[in-house]
Amino acid sequence: METAGMTDKYLVHLIAAARPNFVKVAPLYHALSADPDFRVCIVHTGQHYDANLSAAFFTDLKLPAPDFHLEVGSGTHAEQTGQVMISYERVCLAERPDWTVVVGDVNSTVAAALASAKLLIPVAHLEAGLRSRDRTMPEEINRLVTDAISDLLWTPSADADENLLREGVPASRIDRVGNIMIDSYELLKGQIESDRTVEEMGLTTTPYGFVTLHRPSNVDQRDSLALLVNQLGTAAKTVDLVFPAHPRTRKMLEEYDLIDKITSSPGIRLIEPLSYIQSMSLLRQASLVITDSGGLQEETTYLGIPCLTMRPNTERPITIEKGTNKLVDAEHLAEEVATALSGAWPKGSKLDLWDGQTAYRCVRSLKKRLDGII
Ligand code: UD1
Repeated sequence: METAGMTDKYLVHLIAAARPNFVKVAPLYHALSADPDFRVCIVHTGQHYDANLSAAFFTDLKLPAPDFHLEVGSGTHAEQTGQVMISYERVCLAERPDWTVVVGDVNSTVAAALASAKLLIPVAHLEAGLRSRDRTMPEEINRLVTDAISDLLWTPSADADENLLREGVPASRIDRVGNIMIDSYELLKGQIESDRTVEEMGLTTTPYGFVTLHRPSNVDQRDSLALLVNQLGTAAKTVDLVFPAHPRTRKMLEEYDLIDKITSSPGIRLIEPLSYIQSMSLLRQASLVITDSGGLQEETTYLGIPCLTMRPNTERPITIEKGTNKLVDAEHLAEEVATALSGAWPKGSKLDLWDGQTAYRCVRSLKKRLDGII
């Protein structure tokens, strides 16, 4: 704790690294900053550095410039994780935060949690307990390790609590706070609804699908990527597809000589990554979503939009059990697009604690720990 004037404030570090992290960090930043008991610092690890993956999100989400920028950039998993550990340890030694908050499941999440935990600085993990049970997915390793060493586990849903309890995490460490992605959507709903990207793209008269793909399992092997490009081409004969391509995906399309094929497919628009408000604006008016993202599986369930998840498993099974999500294999993509367009798709229901109040529940949970109530 530090003393600022007459007030004692707890110093909280929020670790932000990659595009989906910014969306999760923003509501918590705003809620903690509004509370006189906290001083909050944003630590940007630099995992995502392109303006349209990083700065554009800070602007949309009304986040200030980061207090610390570690500038680690891209690299192998070990390089990226190691660089974040080394750089964040220095920041921790100089600043001695009372808590480090990490979000999601990217390499920077596990790295910052490790650096912090070894200095005995307590760690809170927001979006804890999610499990795909697929250790070929780098994020699954990040989730397992981060949850094992975190002091406070903020979960989005009951299945996440159960996963943690099964792994032997004491119940006293788990607080179910709900889904933070919904907070961001609700915070910016006015701007999302008045955004004109759909009109500007001339997409108002016909249905369209929104596509995002970036997982190594889909884009890093030529065969998988080529199959997806073929299937998207077939699906685009019946519905326009808007595909903001992640830099990794664009790079692989180029490397495998698939870029001309996709850009010349009638009905597919391959565009640069969009800002948060533009993405959500396109998403809410889409007839369906084709994705391998984690966040979009949740946002589509919240908005009641059919989601075709191009993966063999998901760490977010609640979006299948109670939402609008289905796992689809690439061979059946065009077929499933037709099914979604016909309306024969799960309608989904409202989910408990996906209500825009998650950040406040996190602040309350943190205060209880700091006040020594638990
Ligand atoms: C990372 C996360 C993934 C998350 C995704 C969101 C891990 C293991 N993966 O994947 O869970 O869903 O972010 O986008 O942490 N690149 C750029 N500009 C950038 C950043 C990256 O061009 O600003 C390119 C580089 O070629 C880089 C590649 O994208 O090597 C992959 O970036 P990286 O951060 O390693 O992983 P993502 O695929 O973005």
